[in-house]
Amino acid sequence: MKNFININDFSEKEINQIIDAAIERKNSHSNDSLAKNKVLALIFEKDSTRTRISFDLAIKQLGGIAIMLDKDSLHLGKRETIADTARTISQYADIIMMRSNSHKTLVELADYASIPVINGLSDLSHPCQTIATLMTIKEAKGSLNNINIAWFGPISNVAQSLMDAANLNLGFNLSIYCPKYYQNAYFAKLKDMNESAVLGKVTVNELVPEKMQDVDVIYTDTWFSMGDIEDSAKIEMLTEFSVNSTMMSKAKADCMFMHCLPANRAQEVSAEVIDGARSYVWQEAQNRLHVQKEIILNCL
Ligand code: CP
Ligand code: NVA
Repeated sequence: MKNFININDFSEKEINQIIDAAIERKNSHSNDSLAKNKVLALIFEKDSTRTRISFDLAIKQLGGIAIMLDKDSLHLGKRETIADTARTISQYADIIMMRSNSHKTLVELADYASIPVINGLSDLSHPCQTIATLMTIKEAKGSLNNINIAWFGPISNVAQSLMDAANLNLGFNLSIYCPKYYQNAYFAKLKDMNESAVLGKVTVNELVPEKMQDVDVIYTDTWFSMGDIEDSAKIEMLTEFSVNSTMMSKAKADCMFMHCLPANRAQEVSAEVIDGARSYVWQEAQNRLHVQKEIILNCL
């Protein structure tokens, strides 16, 4: 049984296969009822637009059925344990995708489910997003080899999965740029979660705009993830990491702008960048659908 919990549970070859299969199926428009009558249960403890819609459509286009389960309508965490919820859903469905508040919940669900579990975002990681990001870069640049990605801002769940991928040696280089406070916060968070922080090939730096000239992709995420409390001191600390036209002009002329979305045009990115010609955010959002199909098929 194959779960899809973190990028680093997979080999470089497996991740490349998922990306290439997604590009191929997208271009050939062939779904072939490969998941005919398979049931995908989607559990959301947090809000979602892209993950919800893309998984729902992906299973349906593959010939299967989606069941949407929001936390408020389940007994989960109230009158029923994670283990009993996992055992019950395993009687009806073929795969579970869960967006969880805590990564621990996701792992516990996977431990007790007798069907594969997909991580649709946790406080630790967002592996489905990373595959869609890498697919989008590969489509635009033809290859991931020697692509320099600069991550701006807090080391979020989205950044974590990108870091995991960078350490699989998929060909691209990743540099994280964030205030010292967020570097320390990242290591403290992982310690609290009993997870080990592996930087490996990834460099973590404070911002030096003059060093951006070789950057092929600037990637950022919301400064305040779901559940975080907005704080003016943090906004001030992060202001120089906001991706605006001046910052884009420091990078290569064909530098791509990427964002997992949802975005805040008053904080991490300016409207002229996200709505501009070098923004790939809509392609990235669309590719979530193509990638989800391959993740589902990989689990089945
Ligand atoms: N990027 C992403 O996961 O979007 P949603 O929160 O809308 O699912
Ligand atoms: N870091 C963001 C990603 C949303 C897709 C969050 O967790 O809210």
